[in-house]
Amino acid sequence: MSYQLPGLSALTKPGLLPGFRVSKDQLTTIVPIAVAAALSTYLLTRYFSGQSSPKSKVNPSINKDSPKVVHSFDIEDIGNKAVYCRCWRSKKFPYCDGAHAKHNEETGDNVGPLIIKKRND
Ligand code: FES
Repeated sequence: MSYQLPGLSALTKPGLLPGFRVSKDQLTTIVPIAVAAALSTYLLTRYFSGQSSPKSKVNPSINKDSPKVVHSFDIEDIGNKAVYCRCWRSKKFPYCDGAHAKHNEETGDNVGPLIIKKRND
């Protein structure tokens, strides 16, 4: 006794590969399978890469062995101007090194630094 899923018999009909002639019956089987495979691959890739997930991580690489990354500065030590990274891509973190520009270009994001400066009175 053999059982075949409805529509899969179309895949065994002659003419599927030689000359790439595909009948309408075969197409109605192939297209949904291809769409399901492509969609599954896309969703699994997004899920496992952690990208575009509402729970994705902000920090990709800085002090990952620490449970929390915290920096503290005395206001007197800042000087006239300090530029702090908010994109978590700077090689000089917590200071901005301009890496946000590449991140924004690659992702369509719009992050930029926090600039603290003394007012010129
Ligand atoms: S490098 Fe991160 S905000 Fe500039």
